[in-house]
This record gives sequence, C-alpha cells and structure tokens, in this order.
Amino acid sequence: MPHLTPRSHDTTHETTQDIEIDPVFVRPGESTSFPRHKLPAGESLPETAYQLVHDEAMLDGNARMNLATFVGTWMDDHAQRLLTEAADKNMIDKDEYPATAEIEERCWRMLADLWNAPHPTGSIGASTIGSSEAAMLGGLALKRRWQHRRQEQGLSTKNPNLILSSAVQVCWEKFCNYFEVEPRYVPVNEGHPVLDGDDLSGYVDENTIGVVAIMGVTYTGSYEPVEAISEALDRIQEATGFDVPIHVDAASGGMIAPFLQPDLVWDFRLPRVKSINVSGHKYGLVYPGLGWIVWREEEDLPEELVFRVSYLGGSTPTFALNFSRPGTQVLLQYYVFLRLGFDGFKRVQQNTIDVARFLAEHIGKMPEFTLWNRAEDIPVFAWRLRDPQATGWSLYDLSDQLRMRGWQVPAYPLPADLEHITVQRIVVRNGFSRDLASFLIRDIRKAVKDLNAGLRTGHVSEEQSAGFHH
Ligand SMILES: Cc1ncc(COP(=O)(O)O)c(C=O)c1O
Repeated sequence: MPHLTPRSHDTTHETTQDIEIDPVFVRPGESTSFPRHKLPAGESLPETAYQLVHDEAMLDGNARMNLATFVGTWMDDHAQRLLTEAADKNMIDKDEYPATAEIEERCWRMLADLWNAPHPTGSIGASTIGSSEAAMLGGLALKRRWQHRRQEQGLSTKNPNLILSSAVQVCWEKFCNYFEVEPRYVPVNEGHPVLDGDDLSGYVDENTIGVVAIMGVTYTGSYEPVEAISEALDRIQEATGFDVPIHVDAASGGMIAPFLQPDLVWDFRLPRVKSINVSGHKYGLVYPGLGWIVWREEEDLPEELVFRVSYLGGSTPTFALNFSRPGTQVLLQYYVFLRLGFDGFKRVQQNTIDVARFLAEHIGKMPEFTLWNRAEDIPVFAWRLRDPQATGWSLYDLSDQLRMRGWQVPAYPLPADLEHITVQRIVVRNGFSRDLASFLIRDIRKAVKDLNAGLRTGHVSEEQSAGFHH
C-alpha cells in the first residue's frame, strides 16, 4: 500500500504540539494557540488567521530562487489582477461560464496551429491541471485506439505495452501503473543519452500502443529526436506491419521549440505524431495548475472517451480526469497569448535561454565541473563534478551550501544505467534576469571556495536526492 499520510520532515517536532501564536497577534477574546492537527474549537480574527498562514508559508523560501522547478513563478501585474478577479470560476461549469469555455478552445486551437496540425480546425484538445493529467489522457487514447484495432481484427487486447525512455517523468510510470499498461523502458547510456530510435525494434511488438518521445527530458532538458524515432518506427512498420503511433511529451519544449528551433521537425508535421502535451504552467508562462493536450485529428481521440456538455445550443466535448478545476489558469494563458503573441514569446524564450547559456558558460569554466549540456534545447542544463574522487565534496554539499544562501539548485543521480552519475541542474524561467544570474554565479563561486577550504555542511540525506521530481 502506498503511504498516503504525509510525514513530518521534522522528527523533533511533537505532532500533537499546539502552534504558539506570537503574543503580538493576541487580541482579547481570541485563541492564543491552535491545535496542529484538529479543527480549532473556536473562531479567530481574519487578521490573526491570515498572519499565521502567511508566516508559515514564508518558511517555504522564495519561489523565484527555486531553480529546481520548471513551473512559472512570475507573472506581470495584469495577470495578477486577472488571477484575483477570476479566482471563483470553475472550469467544468461550461454552461455557467461559456466565455471561459470558449477561451479554453481558442487556446488549444492556437497550440494545434503552433504545432503544425495538418488541419488545425480538425484537431481536438483540452486543458488539464498539468502535463501529468494530459499524459494520462494521451496514454488512454493510445490504449483505447490499440484496443479498437485489435478488436476489429478479432485479436486479444490483453497485455498492452508502451515504449518509453528510462528517463521519462514519473507521470508516465503512473500512467502505466494506474491504467495497467506494461512500461517498456529503453535505457539511456553515455552513447545514447536520450531515446533516439536506436534498437527500438527490440521493444516493439503487436501489443505496443505507442512510443512516448520527450521534448525536454526532465533530468537534463535535452530533446529526444522525434523525427529519428518516427523514422525508426517507419522501418519497423515496413519490416513487421506494426503501425506504432507517437505521443510527444512536450511538457517544456512545446512552448520553446516553435519559437527557438522552428526548423526542428518534432510535432504534427510528422504523421506518426498523434498527440502532444505541454504544461501551460512551464514555458507557457502561467502560474501552477495548467496543462494542455492536442490530438492531431478528432479520430485520434476515441469518441467514447469524450463526454458532451451542451451550452449555447451547441455541444462541447470534454475529456478530463478531474471534474472541478480552476478556470483562472486558462484565462491567464489566453492573456499571455494575447499579450506576447508569437514575437513576444520568441523574445521572452530567447532571453531565458540566453540567461541559461550565460550561466552554463560560467559554470562550465570552473575547474571543478564538466557540463552535461549547455541549454542547447530548453533553458535547462546540468553539470557534474569533473573528478568526484579528487574533489572531496559532492554536488549535494554544493546544493546545501547554495540553500544556505537562499538558492534551491538540486543535485540527483541520473536514471537507470547512468545512475552512477550525479548531476546538478538549473532551470531558468521567465523573470530570472541576467542580473540575478550573476548573483547566483557569485554565490556558486563562493560556495565552491568554501567547500574547497573544507567547510562542508554535512552529508546528503536520501530525502534530498529523491527531492527532484518536477
Ligand atoms: C517531460 C515532463 N513530462 C511531464 C511532466 C509533468 O508535468 P506537470 O508537472 O505539469 O504535471 C514534467 C514535469 O516536469 C516533465 O518534465
């Protein structure tokens, strides 16, 4: 059974202990302490409750200095206004909020167009709470379409499998687990650091529902060559007759490649690509809580998975795991699309990747490090120690040192078959200026100097090394 109760990170903390409120907030007639795990018996003033929550949330640290996350941590003042104005809208209430529903559709149609759908009006799409939900929907459609093909041929629909790189994000492991599909992981190694189509024929069989190709591998930010994977599948089809579709997990790259690598062929230009997901809350530049999925053609999303909601005399298809969900993020996405347009997105993403390359260049010049990549694809790069034995400290120690200065820069082992290599990764996002980046370089240099002088902060806990999951 999975352990569902969150455990306290602080073992010295008595879980039954009440929170003592600083006397500065005490007012006559009010509680002076709150039980930690029980609903308080009485009321408190809004100011008191607010201050308590505000202060505790403050302990999370500064989201803008969190260089572990891919998820948006900055939006402009107009977006903040929309966020406050529209916080009460439930995305599922399409009858009640037809304008928000219409805006959702405009957004995914814009994405279909951006990703070169052959007939953007013939595509179908949906907003989700993030790329994980979008991945579940994409995987489900692949599974259902494979089942239909097999049933039509009178063949068994037992034992479906999905081919993935061993460096997939955990959402794909969840999909395979929750929806009972066998994951076939293609291991990455130093010769093949990403899934590139090599040796794919050893994994494909009649029960393969699809291949997942990643545009922006979570561990390093590198793109998988979707075109080469597609060509490998063409050869397999010629040899075996198995026609295997591709889902592109473009959680990050889906909003980078169209602007920064327009000639890279990875999207619906490849007929084998049937569906693509992106996180609106990553390089779609929106706050957390938004993903998108688009299918190449309506027929790629089996009809029976779609529920029809009628409003304004029409009929809107909806396909989602959740029912209620904030509508605000969809409005924010539309705001960003209107605000930036293609040129604005291009400038923002170019600036972000320039900052990432600037950081990579400076970190790469430090004698202790070797770059794993240089933010060639998305504004993400990783590095490792040049000589871990000789250095005398680890990247986990450096991570600790940087945390003391407020920066969150995770260190972690690479996935299966490369797990002997520990890397450290920086995700640069909109709002992380070159000015802030130069402060970070200064702090990295200082931390390395301290570590070299023997000022180690201690060892790594397992928790820290597992703390990377974005
Ligand atoms: C490649 C990839 N796929 C899927 C996800 C999951 O995305 P989300 O956090 O939007 O659910 C991530 C998150 O980092 C990712 O990098």
